[in-house]
Amino acid sequence: MSTEIAPTVDAAAPASEGCCRRSVLRGAAAVGIAGAGVAVLASCSGSSSAATQKGPVTLGPTSEVPVGGGKLYRSARVVVTQPTAGNYKAFSAVCTHAGCVVDGVSNGVISCPCHGSQFKVGDGSVAQGPAQTALPSIPVAVQNGQLVATIS
Ligand code: FES
Repeated sequence: MSTEIAPTVDAAAPASEGCCRRSVLRGAAAVGIAGAGVAVLASCSGSSSAATQKGPVTLGPTSEVPVGGGKLYRSARVVVTQPTAGNYKAFSAVCTHAGCVVDGVSNGVISCPCHGSQFKVGDGSVAQGPAQTALPSIPVAVQNGQLVATIS
């Protein structure tokens, strides 16, 4: 079973978060096509660390994470998957390619909207580039039916 995650609207998130395409357009308009690549890298990496929470973070009820799928917790920059029933995995939601926030889980992979990288729901490893490095794992526990990630 796979589940498509609809990106959630997070009023606390920076406006530039998770949307490098928009940044590409802004960058191209501001500096011309020749300089657009530099603008992309600057905007992507700048959005990745702006609002990351630290320490134990209660994400939400386990019922929000479907078996075989996952859920993005955008404000915490965490994606939680449940590859098999009762087996929860958490990963950084910041793409290891250029720092965009991933935006969906379907067909067994976590997808990045910026350049198409995909990561396996079971271990966060790269299923498709251009990313070369797995999404970092984050400790996650279930406490009273709630998912609690410990972000360092
Ligand atoms: S930032 Fe390039 S694929 Fe994710």
